[in-house]
Amino acid sequence: IRTQVAIIGAGPAGLTLAQMLHLQGIDTVVIERQSQAHVRARIRAGVIEQTTVDLLDEIGLAGRLRREALVHNGFYIRFDRTTHHLDFHRHLDRHAFVYGQSELVADLIDARHATGRPLHFEATDVSVHDIGTDAPFVEFVVDGRAHRIRADFVAGCDGFHGICRQALDPDRTTVANRTYPFAWLGILARTTPVTDEGMYCAHPDGLSVHSMRGPHLTRQYLQVPAHTDLGTWSDEQIWRELRRRSAADDHPELETGEIIERSLAPLRSVVTDPMQQGALFLLGDAAHIVPPTGAKGLNLAISDACVLSHGLGHYYATGDHTALDRYSETALPRVWQAQAFSWNLTTTLHRLGDDGFDWHLRHARLTRWTSSVHEERALGEVYLGLPFPTPW
Ligand code: FAD
Ligand code: DHB
Repeated sequence: IRTQVAIIGAGPAGLTLAQMLHLQGIDTVVIERQSQAHVRARIRAGVIEQTTVDLLDEIGLAGRLRREALVHNGFYIRFDRTTHHLDFHRHLDRHAFVYGQSELVADLIDARHATGRPLHFEATDVSVHDIGTDAPFVEFVVDGRAHRIRADFVAGCDGFHGICRQALDPDRTTVANRTYPFAWLGILARTTPVTDEGMYCAHPDGLSVHSMRGPHLTRQYLQVPAHTDLGTWSDEQIWRELRRRSAADDHPELETGEIIERSLAPLRSVVTDPMQQGALFLLGDAAHIVPPTGAKGLNLAISDACVLSHGLGHYYATGDHTALDRYSETALPRVWQAQAFSWNLTTTLHRLGDDGFDWHLRHARLTRWTSSVHEERALGEVYLGLPFPTPW
């Protein structure tokens, strides 16, 4: 088989790239390791920037999102048993949209199917070859049959545990890395949210996050030690801790109810530089990871797809490589803005050390955020989405 761009991974990065290339008449094959049912059901992020929604509008993929997403002006921050609202909309006239990643991925898969172009699920033994040449190829097995796809370019959209980031020559790549001594224990529960927008509770004993997916469906997270075993937490313990960390004098207690899903996500920051080598381009989690505080991961994946799609579009339209050659230098500044934002939120909202000094520093920053309109606006500029980058 021959195609123009082989896309490995059918997450937000791979599927958005596939759609954007399709709209420019560029041929792609998408190869995904998991089953379609698995990919559609995988519960992850939920906050989508205005910038991302604007792009989805442009490429005709925001129809259901526009009808069903919750539209938020900002989020709440709670500390000292007091609730503060950060209202970004009043400064910037833009919104954040709460819409599960699984819903967005389902919309993207439906759009891909509608194009009639290939999307292979349950591919095993996926490997990339000859990325240093202009004739790279991808091999994989589906239903016991081996396939080889020759392409002009390979887009590595296969996440942090995929194979593409490992295909880069380590001597020509730097990987900036931070790990944190904590993780997020996440639940999806049939309860009514206590606030009308998401909330971060900075308790001295650790962060709790209270988000939602609908009027009677909540997504909530607890900061827990890095190597926590999910099985050691009973539902009762989870609710007790969520209630304790979110206790406030100005709101009723958190509602408890049935927990329908639980997961554990480690926190890390990673940036691969450059994000390209030869014919192989990395996008999204394959290239960089942000800690979930601030909800940037999904949005960055789509921003990378936008940058690469423009570069490939320009190349196929004109034969000019310049924008493709500038892929990393175009994408990375926005990645680092998101890293800085996520780091700021992560280190301010989580419990880090045991000393009182640390809590006082965090408390001072929280007080700035909730008392200065300038700080509020500055946080909002990044939270609602910086503009997508262009190569010139
Ligand atoms: P992914 O969505 O990871 O997609 C990669 C795809 O490639 C997957 O479908 C995978 O199955 C496939 N794949 C992997 N290996 C191969 C292979 N060898 N061959 C073919 N296909 C392959 N962000 C938030 O903002 N908030 C959250 O609460 C949050 N929770 C998260 C929980 C977990 C467990 C994880 C892993 C991430 C979470 N994130 C969260 C981050 C956010 O979901 C990601 O940033 C986003 O999914 C990145 O999109 P992507 O397309 O780059 O990668
Ligand atoms: C959600 C995820 C995040 O990473 C976050 O910071 C806030 C909310 C969510 O899943 O809704």
